[in-house]
Amino acid sequence: MIVLGLEGTAWNLSAALVDERDVIAEDHSTYVPAKGGIHPREAAQHHAEHMAKVVRSVLSKAREMDRMPEAIAFSQGPGLGPCLRTVATAARALALRFDLPLVGVNHCIAHIEVGKWRTGSRDPAVLYVSGGNSQVLALRRGRYRIFGETLDISVGNALDKFARSVGLSHPGGPKIEELALCAKQYIPLPYTVKGMDFSFSGLSTAATEAARRHELADVCYSLQETAFAMLVEVTERAMAHAEKEEALLVGGVGANRRLGEMLNLMCWERGARFFLPDKGFMGDNGSMIAYTGLIMLKSGVVTPIEQSKVIPLYRPDDVEVTWA
Ligand code: ATP
Ligand code: FE2
Repeated sequence: MIVLGLEGTAWNLSAALVDERDVIAEDHSTYVPAKGGIHPREAAQHHAEHMAKVVRSVLSKAREMDRMPEAIAFSQGPGLGPCLRTVATAARALALRFDLPLVGVNHCIAHIEVGKWRTGSRDPAVLYVSGGNSQVLALRRGRYRIFGETLDISVGNALDKFARSVGLSHPGGPKIEELALCAKQYIPLPYTVKGMDFSFSGLSTAATEAARRHELADVCYSLQETAFAMLVEVTERAMAHAEKEEALLVGGVGANRRLGEMLNLMCWERGARFFLPDKGFMGDNGSMIAYTGLIMLKSGVVTPIEQSKVIPLYRPDDVEVTWA
C-alpha cells in the first residue's frame, strides 16, 4: 500500500509518500517568523502558501516511479488550530479529488510509530520530547498510556525560552548542545520531578538568572544535565512499572546527543535496549504521518470526511491502537 501523508501541526509543513518498506518521497517547508516565537495564523498562512508546492513535489516523484497514493493521511492533532485546519483542508481536497480514503492521525502516536518502524523497537517505553510536548508513554491494554508528562512547558520550549533570553536564535536546542560541550563546571539548578511528572518552567527561569552570574557554556551544560536527568528518571520508572525491556527516544529534542547518551547508559545498566531513530525522523516529518496512516488503514481504520475535524488537544490515549 502507498500512502500520502501531510504534517503541519506547527512550524514545519511536510508531505511524504511511503509504502510498508520505506519512504518513497518527502518534501517540506519550514515557517520562519520575522522575529520571536511562533505566530499560529502566520504559520498557517505559510502552510497554505507552500502546500501545493510540497504536495506536487512528492506526487511528481511518485508519477516518475509509477507509484501513486492509495490513501491520504493527515495530522489531526495535537497542534495549533489554524495550522491543523489548513492541513486538514488540503487532505480532504486530495481525498475527494482522487477518490481515496482519508485517515486522521494523532501526531504524538506518529512520532512513536515511525520511531518503532525505523529502529525495529517492538514494545518500548517511549520518551517523546519536542517543542510542544514532553511525555513518557507505553502501550498497555490497547492504548498508548501517558505514564508521565510535563506539568507546565515542554523541555524543548524550556531550552528555546532560555536560549532566547540569552540572545541565541531559535531553535535554541542545538545551540545549547554546542555550547555545553565547552563547559567547565556544573551549576546547581532546580530539579523538579513530582510523582511521574516533571516541570521545566522554573528550571528555564533559573537558568536565565544563572546566566547573569556564570559562563554561558556552564549554564547550558547544567541546564541540559538537570533537564535530561529528570526525563531519564521518569523514563526508567515507567520501564520498571510497565515492565518494558526497551526504551525509544522520539521528537525534536531527541536529536540531542547527550540525552541519547544518558538514556543509553540507563538502559545498559538495567539490561534493557535503547532505540534511537535517525535524525530525519526525530523532528516533525510527513513520513511519520504517512506511515502511521498506512498501518491504521491496514487495520481497518478510515476517517470519513464528516469526522475529519481537527483536534487541537488530541491526546495519544484517546486513540485505540487497532494495529498492534
Ligand atoms: P511537536 O509538534 O511534536 O511538539 P515541534 O513542532 O516542537 O514538535 P520538533 O522538530 O519535534 O518540532 O522539535 C523542535 C524542538 O527540538 C525545539 O524545541 C528545538 O530546540 C529542539 N531541538 C532540536 N535539536 C535539538 C538538539 N540538538 N538538542 C536539544 N533540543 C533540540
Ligand atoms: Fe512533533
